[in-house]
Amino acid sequence: MNHSPQDPAGRMAWLRQTLHRYDHAYYVLDAPIVPDAEYDRLFAELQALEAQYPALASADSPTRRVGGAPLPELAPVRHALPMLSIRTETDTSAQGVRNFDARVRNALGLTPADPPVEYLGELKFDGLAISLRYEHGVLVRAATRGDGEIGEDVTHNVRTIRQIPLQLVGAAPAVLEVRGEIYMRRDAFEALNARQRQAGEKTFVNPRNAAAGAVRQLDPRIAARRPLSFFAYGMGEQVGFDLPATQAELLERLARLGLPVCEHRCLALGPEGLIAFHARIAAIRDRLPYDIDGVVYKVNRFDLQRELGFVTREPRWAVAHKYPAQEEITRLIAIDVQVGRTGALTPVARLEPVFVGGVTVTNATLHNQDEIDRKDVRIGDWVIVRRAGDVIPEVVGPVLERRVGNPPRYRLLEAHPTCPVCGSHVVRAADEAVARCTGGLFCPAQRKQALLHFAARRAMDIEGLGDKLVDQLVDAGLVGNPADLYRLEPQTLANLERMGEKSAQKLVAAIDRSRHTTLARFIFALGIRNVGEATARDLARHFGKLDALIAADTQTLQRVPDVGPVVAQSIATFFAEPHNREVIAQLRAAGVHWDESKPDAAPDGPLAGKTLVLTGTLPNLSREQAKALIEAAGGKVAGSVSKKTDWVVAGAEAGAKLDKAQALGVAIIDEEGLRRLLDRGGFPAMNTGEEHA
Ligand code: IVH
Repeated sequence: MNHSPQDPAGRMAWLRQTLHRYDHAYYVLDAPIVPDAEYDRLFAELQALEAQYPALASADSPTRRVGGAPLPELAPVRHALPMLSIRTETDTSAQGVRNFDARVRNALGLTPADPPVEYLGELKFDGLAISLRYEHGVLVRAATRGDGEIGEDVTHNVRTIRQIPLQLVGAAPAVLEVRGEIYMRRDAFEALNARQRQAGEKTFVNPRNAAAGAVRQLDPRIAARRPLSFFAYGMGEQVGFDLPATQAELLERLARLGLPVCEHRCLALGPEGLIAFHARIAAIRDRLPYDIDGVVYKVNRFDLQRELGFVTREPRWAVAHKYPAQEEITRLIAIDVQVGRTGALTPVARLEPVFVGGVTVTNATLHNQDEIDRKDVRIGDWVIVRRAGDVIPEVVGPVLERRVGNPPRYRLLEAHPTCPVCGSHVVRAADEAVARCTGGLFCPAQRKQALLHFAARRAMDIEGLGDKLVDQLVDAGLVGNPADLYRLEPQTLANLERMGEKSAQKLVAAIDRSRHTTLARFIFALGIRNVGEATARDLARHFGKLDALIAADTQTLQRVPDVGPVVAQSIATFFAEPHNREVIAQLRAAGVHWDESKPDAAPDGPLAGKTLVLTGTLPNLSREQAKALIEAAGGKVAGSVSKKTDWVVAGAEAGAKLDKAQALGVAIIDEEGLRRLLDRGGFPAMNTGEEHA
């Protein structure tokens, strides 16, 4: 791929061909194969060569046709006024801004004695450009940019975007084309990818691609399920619009017409204010809820803009000033794993250091084995790394065309048959994407989580043992597993920070009281995966004795009501791990006991015998809180929807479970509906207070 400088024609032909291929992947297939930064480098190189050797420039160069061909399935739309692009200032120092100002002044024939030019600084949103045509205030058509002359009709999808008004506010002009950017917020993007991952589907590369894919869907129902946002930043054709004199006034007018306009904008006299704007935005870039790839400077006055005009689709009155790319290419050196608080083993990519999103990245998450398989990432590959905002850096995928030979696929379970932290067995349940360490009670990585759960009110109910104290106990090396709690002395505790003699004694007394418990609480306290309070109660009732439960195989376990193969497998796996049995033996030796002949009474309450499924995000309750409330009211929370489900409680961004509930005709309620259910029969009002706060 290297052509000597003596062969510019060969190099230019290669660049053109390569950029065409990248364009096609990006614009037509919605599946980019290189990060933007790499694309931009090649593009800039081609532009430079074309400037240096005008005789070798060709009419079909990608530099002459910014954008891509519309998909044949969407109807073409000819823009009444072409949609322009913005020249990128390659010099990202303050000098770049001064050069822009100098070019503008020069073109306007201004001398140093003339006053400074007024500019508006805006964000450069990383989404896709859209033209919204309003006739007499009504949205009649939405079109993508396409090649700038002809775009695609995407009205059906754009109408599903809540942020885009179907009708303008107040007295509206006969025709107004609003130009702006459709984008996906980073939180919406992360949630979408989490859903894709859970459903075993391919994840999206970045928010822009997810947004572009959604807008260009043929089926508006799919588009509607991907929450998109919009910012207006300009206009196209207008008839009967009382034209503002400046860009700043235009944005205010657009906002008053009911269109979303970004709050981050800045009027500046001369280049210095723009330089400050660039720095100010750079400092908050990570905290913005959406991706930007730079800032845009525009000459504020429209009369001056008209005077400046444009050269090959790029206005001379605007320039983009970019920030470090949020995606880059680097080598994947190795794959390690990290053990999380719940025992999940997350594969982590070790990378050749690369500067991306403003920091040097050496590690990035690979999520899980399924993700590695779907993306087909292999050790030694060149990979695309994305880091945006404060989200952990992620390996987006391999650059397949740079792969040498056929390196072996990565197999997490083969690389780590045992936990790298505690040596317990690692298993991957049939229905799960993640592999987990089975040493829940023993593994140092899971210690804090296990202790908190063990001490919770509905488990062993050790009053006063909250997360701060657990942190202290574990960090001081006083407690490694739940059995160690029963060996604590008031004197040792009193030495801890913020712990007086009195509270130390109180805690030891609470721990002591917890020695006498019920089998159901004890089983729940072990923190076995998929075993909640209700299942623990069923298990206690069915087996009566702990040893019978420990000895049960998956067949026997499935005789317990509501215990299916998945739950049975988690229970069997937990007790099969010798480290866990050892901790249980220590707990019993420490005097933890229960009356084996007296199982807990079946719960009553307004939801007794009812099964509910939670999906999406509820406005006021976390998933754990909702689950705890339902269980306290005698109900059960199931992981998936079936005909036996009594209610599905749906919150924001509810996914596949909601669809399934609709398909099966299961009743769907929201948080308010749940409140009503819980309030039935005078059941205590909802209390969402923390356990042992
Ligand atoms: S104005 C001046 N303003 O950048 C020409 N464009 O290369 C008309 N973009 O595809 C564009 N933020 O989607 C303008 N504040 C902003 C922008 C912006 C992002 C995108 C736009 C276009 C590309 C131009």
